[in-house]
Amino acid sequence: MVGSIEKTKVDVGLSASASDEIAKHLNGYLANLQVLYVKLHNYHWNIEGEHFYTLHAVLEELYNSVAEEIDEVAERVLKIGHRPIGRVADALEASSITEADNTGIAGAAIAKNLVADYRILIDQLRSLIEVAGKHDDEGSADDAVGYLKDKEKQVWMLTAFGA
Ligand SMILES: [Fe+2]
Repeated sequence: MVGSIEKTKVDVGLSASASDEIAKHLNGYLANLQVLYVKLHNYHWNIEGEHFYTLHAVLEELYNSVAEEIDEVAERVLKIGHRPIGRVADALEASSITEADNTGIAGAAIAKNLVADYRILIDQLRSLIEVAGKHDDEGSADDAVGYLKDKEKQVWMLTAFGA
């Protein structure tokens, strides 16, 4: 169920309200990563024109990075005693990143669209860091800081493609 606060038996010492709030933020971020993972493949396959070879390879690096992060974020949800979103339908419903059409698309347009998506992730991560910090959940905050630094670097690189 989207936005579920279903719990497991795992208890790492966070209060119930703290783990509920942090898990909701983590699941919202996870949903966007799941949609972005598919979208990056779509762009990887359907990119046309200038920057094809470079961006085709960059997109593969990006979806591989997102794949690792999806697993880490889902396991973080479990570590704080909740259930990660595991259904595509739920991810689509909970995500604020939207899918792309499978039509031919130029590299500059892909870069521009992805910068907007990565900015959404950056905003989510800053909120997550704030919420985790408020509840002394350094584990979630530390993970989120690492993801934030990656996203900032990726925005910088994508901007160089004319976004
Ligand atoms: Fe490929």
